[in-house]
Amino acid sequence: MSFKLSRRAFAASAALIPIACSKPGSAPQQAESGASDRDIVNPLVKNRADAQIFRHDDGYYYMTGSVPEYDRLVLRRAKTLAGLTNAEERVLWRHEDTGPMSGFLWAPELHLIDGRWVVYFAAGPSGGGEDVFRIRTYAVVCDGDDPMNGNWTVLGEFKGPWDSFNLDSTVFHHRGTRYFAWAQREPGIDTNSNIYIAPTASALTLAAAPVRLSVPTLDWEIRGFKVNEAQAVLERNGKLFMTYSASATDDRYCLGLLTADADADIMDPASWTKSPQPVFQTSVETSVYGPGHNSFTVDEKGRDILVYHGRDYKEIEGDPLFNPDRHTRVQRLYFDADGNPDFGVPVGNGPLPDRFEAVANAGVFMAHDGAELIAGSAPLPQTQFRSTPDKGGAVRISPILRRDEQLVAAEDGSLSIGTATRAGADMFRHVDGPDADTVRIESLAFPGKAIAAGENGLALADMAAPATLWKRS
Ligand code: AHR
Repeated sequence: MSFKLSRRAFAASAALIPIACSKPGSAPQQAESGASDRDIVNPLVKNRADAQIFRHDDGYYYMTGSVPEYDRLVLRRAKTLAGLTNAEERVLWRHEDTGPMSGFLWAPELHLIDGRWVVYFAAGPSGGGEDVFRIRTYAVVCDGDDPMNGNWTVLGEFKGPWDSFNLDSTVFHHRGTRYFAWAQREPGIDTNSNIYIAPTASALTLAAAPVRLSVPTLDWEIRGFKVNEAQAVLERNGKLFMTYSASATDDRYCLGLLTADADADIMDPASWTKSPQPVFQTSVETSVYGPGHNSFTVDEKGRDILVYHGRDYKEIEGDPLFNPDRHTRVQRLYFDADGNPDFGVPVGNGPLPDRFEAVANAGVFMAHDGAELIAGSAPLPQTQFRSTPDKGGAVRISPILRRDEQLVAAEDGSLSIGTATRAGADMFRHVDGPDADTVRIESLAFPGKAIAAGENGLALADMAAPATLWKRS
């Protein structure tokens, strides 16, 4: 979060009516989704920013996040990620009538701490004036084992190292130690917020002095405001990855990445390396602006999922903080050959895209280079194709970077990206292969022919040809 004095003045007058300037028809509501529980459609949940989604060992996915009104803490759960779209949402706690937690409630996170469900959140007082942004971190606690059906009461305030603006707290575990990570303004450093971690002794007390891991200094971290916030931690491939969000909360908002060896002393800032460039940012091609404030989870097959918010338009009327259209989105998170996450681009609205790797030729992907279809290796976004359902199990297949065009089959067996001139030439269907996640993609215009990886790129071939079998990921 970030603000200037003028913005704080604005907030003072608007403090209790934070919804403003929303797009027509974008009132807080569930994403329209005809998808079954099996199929995820982005936005996963409309008008929920700063989303935390995790899969608990009770088999449910839990989701919380900021609501546009910033006046209540909410929670929903579902047995599948897609089920979160229309899941019932419970209000756990509302801001108080007066006092330090009577204004904005930001970026809640649900964690199981020493056997109790705790929600951390940032809150400020109401009543206007500069104090509206006197944001501090608090927690509420549930009196039972079921966070959706217990009673929630205030546990207390997190006392950081300074009495200053602090927010976006999260908890992670590493090598048997529980850590608190948060964003805070530090006296003497001219930024809105930096990132700190420390081991914890209890839900709201630290077991050691915190260390500062990151200060916004790079050009893409200080666009509009000098912000490092919303950190999230993932351990994979012997490394610890900490994403964080940077810059103003408009289309300049983006993800940065800190990386540490999992065996290193993570309380030593020197153990962490900052990526010189943002790892995830606005994509005009897929029409997602200001992606950020992420969390991590896994899908029903245990595959890594990136959770984040983003708008599907760039121009914002008024203060971005009070624009309600930061929608919750999810997408697959892949890793490169070195075991580092490859975030690609925000994939855009619609069903989640797939990657198709030739079973007969590992490393060869269905891909495109501009308007040309290729079979080979290419940057992640050029290997992601969205299959949009049509009648009778048919799908249209579009590159996420060329979302208004489709794969088109021709009588000579060639394939192109464009708009069908022959009826049905852009209609295909997925035919399950012999193993889970293997598939053939049959042309409905030329039945019995399927997309194959060939020497010269992609073309139709007889369904029985080995080159027509793809591993979908
Ligand atoms: O969405 C409210 C605040 O704005 C969040 O706490 C912060 O991450 C974001 O920038």
